[in-house]
Amino acid sequence: MVQAKTWVLKKHFDGFPKSSDFELKVEELPEPKDGEVLLQAVFLSVDPYMRNFSALSMKEGDVMIGGQVATVVQSKHPDYPVGSHVVGPHGWRTHTVCSGAAMDPVLPDWPQDLPLSLALGTIGMTGMSALNGIEEILQLKKGETLLVNAASGAVGSVVGQIAKIKGCKVVGSAGSDDKVAFLRELGFDQVFNYKTVGSLEDALRTASPEGYDCFFENVGGHYSTVALQQMKDFGRIAVCGSISLYNDSKPQTGPYPHPIMIIKQLKMEGFLQSRWNHKNQECMKRLMAWVKEGKIKYREHVTKGFDNMPAAFMGILRGENIGKAVVAV
Ligand SMILES: NC(=O)c1ccc[n+]([C@@H]2O[C@H](COP(=O)([O-])OP(=O)(O)OC[C@H]3O[C@@H](n4cnc5c(N)ncnc54)[C@H](OP(=O)(O)O)[C@@H]3O)[C@@H](O)[C@H]2O)c1
Repeated sequence: MVQAKTWVLKKHFDGFPKSSDFELKVEELPEPKDGEVLLQAVFLSVDPYMRNFSALSMKEGDVMIGGQVATVVQSKHPDYPVGSHVVGPHGWRTHTVCSGAAMDPVLPDWPQDLPLSLALGTIGMTGMSALNGIEEILQLKKGETLLVNAASGAVGSVVGQIAKIKGCKVVGSAGSDDKVAFLRELGFDQVFNYKTVGSLEDALRTASPEGYDCFFENVGGHYSTVALQQMKDFGRIAVCGSISLYNDSKPQTGPYPHPIMIIKQLKMEGFLQSRWNHKNQECMKRLMAWVKEGKIKYREHVTKGFDNMPAAFMGILRGENIGKAVVAV
């Protein structure tokens, strides 16, 4: 009998999450039946959506949602041999008994020198969000100017690099000087620390006086209102996230739509990466190829120990991470 540690949502978040909102529990798992596997988590993902979705899709007492990379330690499923690795939405748990539904094998031929945790980040959900946001929503074209905020995070850092691969001018903002230095290392054309610039409006205008064709929006709220003013006519906006609003106890209410959207004839579309789950393998292969060629660089913010999941999660909401935040079990 295997014992799994799990983190459950003890109390719905009210404003910024607190340690006391989470509870560590131990549960006994049954033996896998035919068609099932026993998984042992190796890396777990902490993502902003866990804050956003918890209120919408979770009850108190539920195991926290989220992706993980796991090793198959027992198998009664022909497609998942013992010792192989999978990525799946198994939540904040050290061990899981499940069927193969909803999980993907980690790409075959995963290079020895690349950490498996990238299957949660640059070569996983957040990298694919960047890729699909750029190609499917923005349809970014060579020579265009793209703005991305939360640019040193898991999604933003890949957005900027893909836009450079596509021959675009990239402007990125982030919340510390170290983060801004990282964006320079990644080859962003113009970068600034939005917390110290004084005027966000001036910083955006200085970075691209001619305005923006595309805006990859991760933050929302005030940032969004200011950035919309500086879009070019017929600009496109991919709304990937609105992290600045996730901890609001009371949702903000607009005014929407902003008049500038009409005057400039802007196109704005929200998306969930899961819309393109059917092409995950193809997207991961493309991201892997860019990483191997050195065209996409990555950094990770690794927290050690399953017991530190809540701290790691609260850390991203405080902006402690550069690159993808993961927990190594
Ligand atoms: N639509 C989808 O399918 C999808 C998929 C993945 C992610 N997302 C969304 O994309 C966005 C970025 O995700 P990620 O995984 O890249 O995040 P991440 O790596 O965890 O980084 C989050 C970053 O957001 C910034 N941040 C945190 N609180 C903030 C606040 N109150 N105001 C402004 N910035 C704040 C911080 O950077 P600074 O220091 O620079 O502020 C922080 O490091 C999030 O909104 C997330 O919900 C959406």
